[in-house]
Amino acid sequence: MLKSIAVMTSGGDSPGMNAAARAVVRTALYEGVEVWGINNGYHGLLEEDMFKMESKNVGDIIQRGGTFLGTARCKRWKTPEGRMMGYQHLVDRGIQGLCVIGGDGSLRGASLLSEETGLPIVGLPGTIDNDVWGSDYTIGCDTAANTIIDAINKLRDTASAHRRVIVLEVMGRNSGWLATVAGISGGAEYILIPEEKYDLDAICSDMKAAYDAGKRYILVVLAEGAGNAQEVGSFIAEKTGIDTRVSVLGHIQRGGSPTVIDRVRASQLGEQAALALISGLSDIVFGFSKGHVVTINLHDAVTNKKKLDPEYTHLAKVLF
Ligand code: F6P
Repeated sequence: MLKSIAVMTSGGDSPGMNAAARAVVRTALYEGVEVWGINNGYHGLLEEDMFKMESKNVGDIIQRGGTFLGTARCKRWKTPEGRMMGYQHLVDRGIQGLCVIGGDGSLRGASLLSEETGLPIVGLPGTIDNDVWGSDYTIGCDTAANTIIDAINKLRDTASAHRRVIVLEVMGRNSGWLATVAGISGGAEYILIPEEKYDLDAICSDMKAAYDAGKRYILVVLAEGAGNAQEVGSFIAEKTGIDTRVSVLGHIQRGGSPTVIDRVRASQLGEQAALALISGLSDIVFGFSKGHVVTINLHDAVTNKKKLDPEYTHLAKVLF
């Protein structure tokens, strides 16, 4: 049984990280275990920017996007020397286990730390991209998808008014999950994602035929990893002759008050992570599969690449 643990958020923030950290802290305190908060991810750990937490430190945050602990992308953590220094900073304070809330890069950093030092580590998947292997859900993906839908609804109004093509770029450097679910639920005509090759020439011919047959407007949802929105928009405008506009949603989709799903799931994951860590378990990630909390081996989570559910890509094609 561990007596002292720490929690951090790392990498790109995601709505619900606060709910997860809050659950880790309150569960640990409920179990009579000391809990530390590390500010600004691995960077903060290297800078010894951490503090012992009380229940009130996580008050008034469940409804907030972002992360009250702060986050960072840390180059120094990629070196064994950096990780050893971070480990020492934990040992100096008597911290015996660490919960890392973040995406695949952050969990990779956690996995290396555990391998090199034996420190008990539990990870939680926190990223809007929903691309952590072994879990069909990551903290923040639901809020981000809802933010995109809100944008799509608005873009539809103006696209319809002018009979235009709209190309909407959403996040997803390596993953098309956000583009796909937002495209399906927003009724997009085309969804372009990094996981699937597409033929823009053929899409343009198809688009032009539908437009000439009376289709009022056309919505293309493009994941950022599948191409440059300006280039795709210009290509479509030139090939089809249809008035085309481009909208890049950017970091708006990373912020905002988390949805009920993100709050509840993040809280469940946070509780499980704290309990596991306190009981001495290590090298696991808690995620969801088919609506239930599951454990995933940390090493497996960071060495395998999650594939997009083919049912989604199929559905997107059928519904066009
Ligand atoms: O969190 C992952 C992600 O949202 C990617 O989809 C995107 O490419 C990236 O973050 C952007 O990160 P940054 O905030 O560092 O620009």
